[in-house]
Amino acid sequence: MDLYEYQAKDLFAAHGVPVLPGKTVDTAEAAEAAAAELGTAVVVKAQVKTGGRGKAGGVKLAESPAEAKEKATAILGLDIKGHTVHQVLVTTASDIAEEYYFSFLLDRSNRTFLAMCSAEGGMEIEQLAVERPDALARIPIDAIAGVDKAKADEIVAAGKIPAVVAEQAADVIVKLWETFVAEDATLVEVNPLVRDPEDKVIALDGKVTLDENAGFRHPAHAELVDERTENALEAKAKAKGLNYVKLDGGTVGIIGNGAGLVMSTLDVVAYAGEKHGGQKPANFLDIGGGASAQVMADGLDVILGDPDVKSVFVNVFGGITACDAVANGIVEALKILGDGATKPLVVRLDGNNVVEGRQILADANHPLVTVVGTMDDAADKAAELAAAV
Ligand SMILES: Nc1ncnc2c1ncn2[C@@H]1O[C@H](COP(=O)(O)OP(=O)(O)OP(=O)(O)O)[C@@H](O)[C@H]1O
Ligand SMILES: [Mg+2]
Repeated sequence: MDLYEYQAKDLFAAHGVPVLPGKTVDTAEAAEAAAAELGTAVVVKAQVKTGGRGKAGGVKLAESPAEAKEKATAILGLDIKGHTVHQVLVTTASDIAEEYYFSFLLDRSNRTFLAMCSAEGGMEIEQLAVERPDALARIPIDAIAGVDKAKADEIVAAGKIPAVVAEQAADVIVKLWETFVAEDATLVEVNPLVRDPEDKVIALDGKVTLDENAGFRHPAHAELVDERTENALEAKAKAKGLNYVKLDGGTVGIIGNGAGLVMSTLDVVAYAGEKHGGQKPANFLDIGGGASAQVMADGLDVILGDPDVKSVFVNVFGGITACDAVANGIVEALKILGDGATKPLVVRLDGNNVVEGRQILADANHPLVTVVGTMDDAADKAAELAAAV
């Protein structure tokens, strides 16, 4: 789960990382009041979960409360890379002597954690990473050893952070590592980490991604979820304990058992769909090993509730849960859903007790269900039905 800047900085503050005071508001009037309360020049910052806000006109300086209101009016409602701005952070404006870049992240390809640090931070960091990669130090972090003061000193030196603030920067880096570990984050990024004219080091921006798989350890993280921006179908699936991901631009709903099978189902549907006007899978949904009628009904309910879905492909390989149990699950699920089931279903069953399973579906003879023998043919049929709507 990605956090907003203000949420990231709240976590930073809780772990002792220096940040500036601020208030997050959702109206221009409240922005004016927040600026008056701070009593300083402020920066009004769009709160959206994407980078490049500054370049998109989402970060603006305001010298007075009236100007803060004016800037908030311009920023609220703005579309930044497909994200609508619902809230702005009104925060003290800082004089900036230098901007640095710092992050901790999970480096999946190298199976390690990584620290990235540069004395040349700011809004051009992506360009720097491409054009002068040497200016962006990359230091692997051993998960067991972690980051102590000595390691932080090494990172600061590699990033060429100036000597006047090296001690402070190292101290901040240790605290950011504490944040990273204690909150179970997969990304903690500060760009810019600034030096102000009094040589104080401050985190002016913050980007944090939390590992949702560790959510059970962090009941407080539930409050960080913004229902406004959560996909409604994903929220519904999550509430039912389903492993569901909505995919943009698709028309064929997908249900399968086992993540690997579902992944390859997405591939065969995308491939078959090319022959039918570019139909694509509309979602990932793995109903797991024990595909009970209720789980099947819950899965179908979510998928049929997606207005983009024109047909559904149920792709099941019977293992411990045999095909006859799955077939009964499908029949029962359609009964549970009743009139809620409105879109054609293509079912491919194979594996344990496949003959019995197909017989159950044949006997049920449901008008929406087509049973197809192979995965490729079923994908083709599902794409054809989606294209016909
Ligand atoms: N409180 C502040 N006081 C003064 N200047 C600020 C403040 N906050 C941000 N800035 C300036 O605005 C720039 C952009 O802000 P920020 O990095 O927060 O947003 P961003 O453009 O979305 O960054 P990113 O692309 O890293 O997400 C900063 O590099 C900094 O120069
Ligand atoms: Mg930034």
